[in-house]
This record gives sequence, structure tokens and C-alpha cells, in this order.
Amino acid sequence: MSQKQLTLSAVILAAGKGTRMRSDVPKVLQPLADKPLLAHVLDLTDEINVDNVVVVYGYGGDKVQAAFDSPNLNWALQAEQLGTGHAVQQAMPQIDDGSRVLVLCGDVPLLTGATLSRLISETPEDSVGVLTVIMDDPTGYGRIIRNDRGTVKRIVEQKDANDDELDVDEINSGVFIVPASKLRGWLAKLEPQNAQGEYYLTDIVGLAVSDGIDVHGVVTDDAAETMGINDRVQLAEAECAFQHRAAIALMKAGARLADPARIDIRGSVTVGRDVFIDVNAVFVGDVVLGDRVHIGPNCVIEQSVIEADTKVFANSLIESSRVGEACNIGPYARLRPGALLERGAKVGNFVEVKKSTIGEGSKVNHLTYIGDAEIGRNVNVGAGTITCNYDGANKHKTIIGDGAFIGSGVELVAPIEVGSGATIGAGTTLSKDAPEGQLTIERARQRTIDGWQRPKKNQ
Ligand code: UD1
Ligand code: CA
Repeated sequence: MSQKQLTLSAVILAAGKGTRMRSDVPKVLQPLADKPLLAHVLDLTDEINVDNVVVVYGYGGDKVQAAFDSPNLNWALQAEQLGTGHAVQQAMPQIDDGSRVLVLCGDVPLLTGATLSRLISETPEDSVGVLTVIMDDPTGYGRIIRNDRGTVKRIVEQKDANDDELDVDEINSGVFIVPASKLRGWLAKLEPQNAQGEYYLTDIVGLAVSDGIDVHGVVTDDAAETMGINDRVQLAEAECAFQHRAAIALMKAGARLADPARIDIRGSVTVGRDVFIDVNAVFVGDVVLGDRVHIGPNCVIEQSVIEADTKVFANSLIESSRVGEACNIGPYARLRPGALLERGAKVGNFVEVKKSTIGEGSKVNHLTYIGDAEIGRNVNVGAGTITCNYDGANKHKTIIGDGAFIGSGVELVAPIEVGSGATIGAGTTLSKDAPEGQLTIERARQRTIDGWQRPKKNQ
């Protein structure tokens, strides 16, 4: 017997209106962990190496397609929502007979690749598999009716079920794996003879059984995985489940979390050993934390790398930045895109750094703005220093050499350069380059006016 080599296709059902969201944004574009619901499902198809993905869209189709502008995606319009079977049928012209079709829903974002792989591998290539879940409260779902051999005989919707069927607590997750050639025939035979007058995808089960094809119910024990999202309450519940999963993964990777219920990961966080993360940290995009990094409470860290032994104190924001080893940041610091801190640098409270390098061992500790600057090693930038980098039209650079000392309250009017070892007196508005090794100061002479009196209030 020759071994068949079927490819894997996925049909993602995403034509539903999502009325219960009460939103102008199509349901599958609602964000979970900062990413559209549909993106989570597409990631899954990537993870299990689906060869051909067809998204069935309807309501808000232009917006959905615009959000996923990828040449590897195929789209099928379901102009009228006549049921899940009808939806799959719209995708079939783009599906090859030599493939197995995985049916997924655009609003079921928490499935895992492991579960899908199990459904696929436990279902023989020429039969049908359906992912099922045992539910404490199965109300609303299609019930799985098994025969005495333990395979699935039929799926009956809540609205069509009799009392005995309603007692069944095993439900249809909506995820199927079906050989394309057979699916095509079964879909053509569907009839909307049911309580909702819809073409039910679930009716292919009965048709398969009539054709002598086994339908395997593969059970998952994690009900969160198959949770569908219809309203904002369920969206928040899914977010919670997603974050719980992410927090567990982070702890398993070696991070200590002050409270796994108070961390938000909207992207990916990679940690070294003995990282500590205090409460209410928010991570966005890809973040890398080296060994023993300490993240204080209420920090937001986006798309950044923080190397070993660095401490980020409370209420700091770090975005698209790179922080070297053993740096101190915050409390209340803000690193904007393009900040680069070299080993042992310190950026203290109410300091904003943008598109600037702060060299090894340099300190910018208080109330300062550093923009478009290159600061060398072991520089001390005093409190209240401002790089005046913007002339109203263009941005200009400030360069500060190694070992320079910038006094408090200095304005550096860029473009400007401070030589190595230079000292700039407090209160200077520096508008010409300062030579290395010398004191440069720009300050009006101090006077005391003899006999001066404060004005008095008029009677
Ligand atoms: C469906 C299943 C039910 C299962 C449940 C799991 C059927 C008949 N019933 O019920 O057995 O327990 O999912 O959540 O399949 N959609 C379209 N076009 C349509 C109709 C639906 O794209 O014409 C999409 C929806 O956007 C959604 C998915 O299909 O993503 C499921 O549709 P929904 O109406 O929510 O199905 P249920 O009635 O919940
Ligand atoms: Ca001044």
C-alpha cells in the first residue's frame, strides 16, 4: 500500500459580526495581549507548519485584510453568515484535494500547538477528528454524542438537543481535522434543517458516519484553550488566562515574580537566571532580561534588552533601548527609543534619555533631558541639565568627552561638543564648544544691591 502524503490546510472562520463586542472594530481584530485575536490563531498555524491558510471573512473584511497584509494568507469572503458549514464551504475553492483541512475559529485564541498537533496525530489521515472538552457547564455548546465503540456519532447543537443529549458534558470545541476530498462532498450535502436554519459544519459528522468513516473525539482537559470570545467580559477572561500562562512560563524559565497575577506580557520576555520582577510590570514586544536583572514595581519595558545585574527602580519606562550590565535606572526614569547605556551607567529620577549613548560608568542622576547626545565614560551630568537638541526645525548632536563634569542647570545648545575632562560651571548656557580639561562657565556676575527694598502693596 502506498503511503499518502497529504499537505495541511487551515480554514479559519472569522466572518462573524461580533455584535456582542459593541465595537466598531471587527471581533477578530480585538486585542489580546496587545495582538489581534486572529494573529494568535495565525501564529498557531505557523507553529504547526500549516501549508495553506484560508481566512473566511465577512463583516469588516477590508479592515481585517488590511491588518494582515501577508502574501501567504488566502482570503475567502462569506457575504452572508449562513452557518459554520457554509463558511467552510467558501474556503474550499482554495483548498487542494490532497490535503487535510484543519478548521479553526478566529475568536478562539488560546489553543496551543501541542493540542492541535495531538488532534492531528491522533486522527488517522483518512478519518475525521474533532477536538472536544469536558465542561462543568456545557450550556450553549454543541454536545458530542458517542456510539458504543467510543467514536463520535453525531454533534447536536444546544437548540436542537433533547434532554438526554443536554445532559452530555463533552462539547464540540469547533476545531476539526478532515480530509479535503471528503469534506468537499459532505459540505455540498448540508441542509439547514435545524432550529437555527443554518448550514452546520457539525452535520459533517453524521455524513461521515453514513459513509463508514470514523470520527475521533480527541479530548483536551484545558477548557481555557478552547474558550471562544464573544464579548468584552470573555475578552478580559482570556487576557487573564493568557497572562497567567505567560507568568507561569516566565517562572519556569527562572524568573521570580513578586505576584504572578500582577504582570502583563504583551509580546515575549526572555530571562536569564535569578531575574526578579516586582508587581505591575508591563512588557511589550520582545524584551530580554539578563541574569539577576531586577525590575521594580510599575515599570513599562518595551522592545529592549537589559543586560545582567542591572536594576530598574520603580515607575520607570524603557522603550526600544539597550541597557548594558550593572546599570541603575530610575526610579521615575524614561528611556526613549535609541537610548544606549553602557556598563555601570546610572540614569536617575525624572531623567529622560532619547537616541543617546551614555558611556561606561557615567551618571545622569536627576531631572535631566539628554537627547541626540553621545556621552563618554565616567561623565557626571549634574541635576537639571538640558541638551537643547532642537532648534525648531532640526535636531542637533551634543558630544561630551570622557571624564567631563557638567554642573547643575546647564543648557547645552546643540550642535555642541564638550572636550574630555572639561568642567562646565553650574547654570551655564553653553553655545560654543568647551575645550578639554578646562573650566568653562557662562554666568552673569552676581551683584547685591545696597539698600534695595521690596515693593509694598498699594493702599
Ligand atoms: C459552534 C458549533 C458548536 C460548538 C461551538 C464552539 C456549529 C453549528 N456549532 O457553535 O457545536 O460547540 O461553535 O464554540 O458549528 N462563523 C462564520 N460564519 C458563519 C457562522 C459562524 O464565519 O456563518 C464563525 C464565527 O465567526 C465564529 C465561528 O464560526 O468564529 C463559530 O460560530 P458561532 O456562531 O460562534 O458558533 P456557535 O453557535 O457558538
Ligand atoms: Ca543660565
